[in-house]
Amino acid sequence: MSIADDPDRAPARSHLYAMGMTDEDMRRPVVGIATTWTGTMPCNLTHRELAAHVAEGVREAGGLPMEFNTIAVSDNLTMHTPGMRASLISREVIADSIELMGRAHGFDALVAIVGCDKTVPAAIMALARLDVPSVVLYSGSMMPGRWRGRDVTIQDMWEALGEREVGRLDQAELDDLARHACPGAGTCAAQYTANTMGTVADFLGLAPFGVGDIPAVAEEKNAAARRVGQVAMEALARDARPSRVVTEDALHNAIVSVAAMGGSTNAVLHLLAIAREAGLPLEIDRIGEVCRQVPIITGLKPSGGDSTALDLWRAGGTSLVVRRLLEAGLLRENVTLVDGRTLADVAADARETPGQGVVASAAEPFKRRGALAILRGSLAPDGCVLKLGGKEDFRHEGPARVFDSEADCYVAIQEGLIVAGDVIVVRYEGPAGGPGMREMLSITGPLVGRGLGSSVALVTDGRFSGVSHGLVMGHVAPEAYHGGPIALVRDGDTIVIDSAAGTVDLVVPAAELAERRAAWRRPAREVERGVLTKYVATVGSASDGAVTA
Ligand code: FES
Repeated sequence: MSIADDPDRAPARSHLYAMGMTDEDMRRPVVGIATTWTGTMPCNLTHRELAAHVAEGVREAGGLPMEFNTIAVSDNLTMHTPGMRASLISREVIADSIELMGRAHGFDALVAIVGCDKTVPAAIMALARLDVPSVVLYSGSMMPGRWRGRDVTIQDMWEALGEREVGRLDQAELDDLARHACPGAGTCAAQYTANTMGTVADFLGLAPFGVGDIPAVAEEKNAAARRVGQVAMEALARDARPSRVVTEDALHNAIVSVAAMGGSTNAVLHLLAIAREAGLPLEIDRIGEVCRQVPIITGLKPSGGDSTALDLWRAGGTSLVVRRLLEAGLLRENVTLVDGRTLADVAADARETPGQGVVASAAEPFKRRGALAILRGSLAPDGCVLKLGGKEDFRHEGPARVFDSEADCYVAIQEGLIVAGDVIVVRYEGPAGGPGMREMLSITGPLVGRGLGSSVALVTDGRFSGVSHGLVMGHVAPEAYHGGPIALVRDGDTIVIDSAAGTVDLVVPAAELAERRAAWRRPAREVERGVLTKYVATVGSASDGAVTA
């Protein structure tokens, strides 16, 4: 019974009248519109405007839109500060808050407007929990900046730090780049974590193909948002709820998209978490298997080439990627897309700009190897994620340089104490240890800038920005905080990384390791308060998605 017709809901009606609603409004299906608008970052700045257009689409299709918003944490703004610990934790808070609003208000359908990195998986996790017909609207990428005649993104900013340190740029040039790198609203402008997860939302079937890859400030975005409002009502009519959309086959396609587009290692965490919320089986090794079989077919930064998200959209967008992947037989077609199309429809609808050089075929890809690999070994018995970035298989053996925090390592790099051949180990940065798995961009950017990106390996129980590249392995599990082998490494120990064998090993005699284990004590740290305390008490292994439920 609607609120308008339930005698006992008169008090509720009084509040709805207070918002200008009529009895007729109250008899319409209610579509919740969750936005992650946050005025602290460019990534999600357009969400309120988009929400208004979604609401219009909902109304046109006969529904009653009700907007609400939740938080978001910018990875870029918090990087290299203690605030970075909040980033991954925010995924859980966002998921919980959308879930709570859904449970409280009993929306008939939901639209989630997402942008910055954590907001995308968080919303999908919440929608899976609520399981009402749902649509994801990815708000879109930032335009690239222009500097010295070339397109630049936030990746260039971080690498410029290293170039300043070795004297290739001075501070004035760095500041000038900062003024040009990010020209307006939108998410980081290539296949970093946000765009990777936006694409995941497409391939999971929750976001209509062709909407997410419209840049945030393109005028086409508002019309697309209005259409999303209508799609939500159509999804309601078809009962296209997440449990019918996010299936094993859809999850497989999402993993393929990460591999084929050179996506971020953070996708591993988020795919594991989404699978868990959707009740689907997914082991971390399965992601590695798919990535081994799928080449990188887009020439996007940072793994496939030098193109930006804008270039991808101009070339034909993710719909064109669907066409290429279908041609290669890499996608499972027995999936439900929220807008009622099939993958074959999406491929047929795809436009390809003549002469485009961003989306290739699987037969002639940009890189024959996928974006990432899963390694196991004596240093990571429960697995870790290697950012392969399309590189050929490699073997790296070197002495460990151990740091108990990202900040200590950053200082050592600045002082020139890291040399070619080293294996940097940054630990106590895992889900519970950090807490919150800080991203290591303040390390990887300067390493690349100093020209050490391919000669120094980095192993951590923390994680990496989608912008990071180089010989980097993260998500080492078990983490140091829980006494994983990474906690036992000492300066000078030999570490061997073999991507072809899928192994990462600490070469220390077993007896010596047993002695170290017996002597190991978890390092004392400042007493955590508030949300950090709750997080440490509940968060699980990175190899299970670092979820808290
Ligand atoms: Fe928000 Fe990159 S920091 S998308």
